[in-house]
Formats: sequence, structure tokens, C-alpha cells
Amino acid sequence: MIDIIDYGPLQKLIGTWTGDKGLDIAPEPGGTEKNPYYETIVFTACEDVENAESELLTFLHYRQIVQRKSNNKIFHDQTGYWMWNSNTKTVMHSFTIPRGVAILAGGLVNEKLSENSEVTLEVNAKVNDKNWGIIQSPFMQKNAKTIAFSQKLHIRNNQLSYTQTTSLEIYGRSFEHTDNNSLIKE
Ligand code: HEM
Repeated sequence: MIDIIDYGPLQKLIGTWTGDKGLDIAPEPGGTEKNPYYETIVFTACEDVENAESELLTFLHYRQIVQRKSNNKIFHDQTGYWMWNSNTKTVMHSFTIPRGVAILAGGLVNEKLSENSEVTLEVNAKVNDKNWGIIQSPFMQKNAKTIAFSQKLHIRNNQLSYTQTTSLEIYGRSFEHTDNNSLIKE
């Protein structure tokens, strides 16, 4: 008999997504840069894992490659896991970006927003939070500190849209670094 893995609200993410309507708002000294972008995100199903013989998680791995429209250069490269606990209805998103920053964001899935063809996933993390936290290098803590991260994904049929805000302390000020895009499953 073949076991059917229950990826819950993550099921619809599995596959390759592309989108070219991205907009990144990022900090620069004394100002703000706006970067239109396109990207590919590949979500791969990884079955399940058991923690302390009691917590069952199913999980997906993903890789996100983001390119600037103006010059086609890769300017953001991110990888991590989305995890689902069907008992507690908790989703977790753990990821790293190659600036010396790692995040474990979590949230509860609202069943009403995860019915039929639509799924909404919302996760948050804050520096020093005891549950959903942020780890960053000594340099980043001093010069470009991530204070909080929040992310909302909406999946409807073969469309995925997301918005995310990374709250930074950089260049002597607070900065809301935001990204959003709409993608289609190939
Ligand atoms: C689509 C996603 C993202 C894009 C396109 C993006 C792009 C950028 C850009 C263009 C900068 C300005 C500095 C530079 O040119 O390299 C920047 C800065 C930064 N980003 Fe992102 N970013 C994204 C997501 C994230 C996420 C998810 C995090 C962390 C949770 C993050 C953390 C940072 C930090 C800490 C900085 C400050 C470093 C600096 O400007 O020197 N970014 N990002």
C-alpha cells in the first residue's frame, strides 16, 4: 500500500512557479531603491519527519531565485523549508539568505482561508521572540539588523501571490524592506 502524505495547505505549493511582476523596495544610504524583478521558486515535496516521537511534520523544500529586470542579474537567492503540523494547524517557514541571516517564522492556518481551491498562509518572526526568531551574524546585528519578518502567501488554482515585509535597522534608521510578486505554476 502506498502511503499518501498529507501536506495540508502546503500541497498546492509543490511544483515550479514563475512570475515577472515583482517589486522590491530596499534600503540604500539616505534613500530607497525600487527594483522590479522576476523570479522562479521551486517547491519539492520531502515527505515527513517525527520529532521526539510525538510531533509529526510534513515538509517541502524550496529554492527561490530572484533577478533584476534592469540587468537580469540574480540579486536575491533564498532557500528553506515550509513545514505543516496537521494536529496543531501550525505552519512553519524556516529559511536562510546568504547575507548571514536565518529565520524561523510560524503561524496558524485559518481553516476558512484554506478551503477548496484557495489557501492563505501567514507567518511572522521577531528578533528575540521565544518561538519564532531571527539569527544574524555579528556584522548584520550591528549594521543591517533584521527586527521582524512577516509574510503572507495566497494560492488560488495555479496562481501564487505573496507580500512580505522585512523590518530593518540600517544606515541609522528604521526601514520597511518589502517584496511582492504574483506567480503562475508551470
Ligand atoms: C524577493 C526577495 C528580496 C529581494 C529581491 C531583496 C533585495 C534586496 C536589495 C536590492 C537590497 C539592497 C542591498 C543590495 O542591493 O544588495 C536588500 C537588502 C537587504 N535585504 Fe533583501 N531582498 C529580498 C528579501 C529579503 C528577505 C526575505 C530578507 C530577510 C528576512 C532580506 C534581508 C535584507 C537585509 C538584511 C538587507 C540589508 C543589507 C544591505 O542593504 O546592505 N531581504 N535586499
